[in-house]
Amino acid sequence: MKIYKTNNYYEMSCKAANIIAAQMTLKPDSVLGLATGSTPEGIYQQLIAKCLKGEIDFSNIQTVNLDEYVGLDKDNPQSYQYYMNSKLFSHVNIPEGNYHLPNGMATDSETECKRYDQLIEDLGYVDLQLLGLGLNGHIGFNEPNTHFSKGTYLVGLAKSTIDANSRFFENYEDVPRFAYTMGIKTIMSAKKILLVVNGKAKAKILKEVVTGRITPEVPASILQLHNDVTIVADSEALSLL
Ligand code: GLP
Repeated sequence: MKIYKTNNYYEMSCKAANIIAAQMTLKPDSVLGLATGSTPEGIYQQLIAKCLKGEIDFSNIQTVNLDEYVGLDKDNPQSYQYYMNSKLFSHVNIPEGNYHLPNGMATDSETECKRYDQLIEDLGYVDLQLLGLGLNGHIGFNEPNTHFSKGTYLVGLAKSTIDANSRFFENYEDVPRFAYTMGIKTIMSAKKILLVVNGKAKAKILKEVVTGRITPEVPASILQLHNDVTIVADSEALSLL
């Protein structure tokens, strides 16, 4: 694992965006694995700025997102498709049809999970997977005690995740209880992984992820076994390491 420490969230975002931009420059038809949550927002702003300046080009890039809530359609402002459209896709020159998320409205979950895994395989797997880190060590929506051998699947969200994500919803009852997520096996099949973490609240879990036992209790601890992981984190998140 390579770990880069930055002074703050803005520098973390710039550094991570530079890594993604370098990937896009070296391989203009890269498959990028993308993430949602608050952490990557600054990265997407940097990527938009670089694209507007002509420094990066999305025309041959394909993207696959980690996860999507079940029961929210793409026009629902809380869906991850909506998040991605508003925070990245509608501001850059990525062709419609080049970005992919699980379909939260799919009625047959088994078929949907198979479709998503097949899609990733057909694209030749993810070149660079961006990840945020949940407070309980989740990546994507792989909650503690998920089997490491899973491909894409339908997951029931942990109470702590529902609580954490409720800040984006008007009513607690509106927070979806289920999601589709790439499994750990899918995430580990990415050629490179970029984990971004900021803030004091994540210092303890980041320490466990990097130096603790590799265990399904801390899903992100599996990243210790991947051969190309870069962590970009601010000094608060790295304060216990
Ligand atoms: C959600 C997402 C994850 C994300 C995590 C952390 O549960 N499914 O992909 O990494 O939250 O979010 P944040 O960056 O807002 O702390």
